[in-house]
Amino acid sequence: MNRKAPFITIEGVDGAGKSSHIKPIIQRLKEHGFDVVSTREPGGTDVGEKLREIILNDKMDLRCEILLAFASRADHLSKVIEPALKSGKAVLCDRFTDSTYAYQGFGSGGNLEEIKTLEKMVHENTQPDLTLVFDLSVDESFRRLNKTGKTPDKFESRSKKYFEDVRRGYLTRMEEGRNIVLVDSEQPIEMVKNDALMVIDCFVEQWKKNNKPTPSSKKMAP
Ligand code: TYD
Repeated sequence: MNRKAPFITIEGVDGAGKSSHIKPIIQRLKEHGFDVVSTREPGGTDVGEKLREIILNDKMDLRCEILLAFASRADHLSKVIEPALKSGKAVLCDRFTDSTYAYQGFGSGGNLEEIKTLEKMVHENTQPDLTLVFDLSVDESFRRLNKTGKTPDKFESRSKKYFEDVRRGYLTRMEEGRNIVLVDSEQPIEMVKNDALMVIDCFVEQWKKNNKPTPSSKKMAP
């Protein structure tokens, strides 16, 4: 799809603090002149939010979990993400298919080829233009999660080994050529925010250069 505005996703292991950086990123994209639709996965639609409750809380067969993640994604793409992109809005999505690779694939040992097949089936032509991964060591992520005092969901209560594998999943996706940029989230929060916004600035500058309207698409003067 030839887009007028980018599709950006935000990722990271639990506790990496990605949620704190979503508002400043939306603000920065608006300053760059984009209308922004901010959404999340699993979720983003009524059906998706119902599936989120199930995915995050119920124990289930791994294939069932993968299929539910993609079922939620299919609804989300057709009702929210693709219409927004088609109407020229930027989309900022808190987690997307890289989470399924990292959590269900690398973390839980799901079949990566099956995930690839589902990715192709559900959104072959709608891939993120940029993915920010808020990255930090698993030890630090556990320290932060313990400090929040909130009841952990199914994923948050998993072992350090699980999260090491999830983190490795993101790094592998990056090495495979996905447009992933790591943001060092071990730093103080203000520095993490500044780094994330700098990534957005560089990306948008490049995006605008690459997506300048061609002379033939400009309106001719009467
Ligand atoms: P998260 O985005 O961190 O939300 P919150 O800040 O409310 O905890 O949590 C969503 C969880 O869902 C996270 O643990 C990762 C998991 N998840 C998957 O396992 N697979 C997926 O495909 C997606 C999108 C998320």
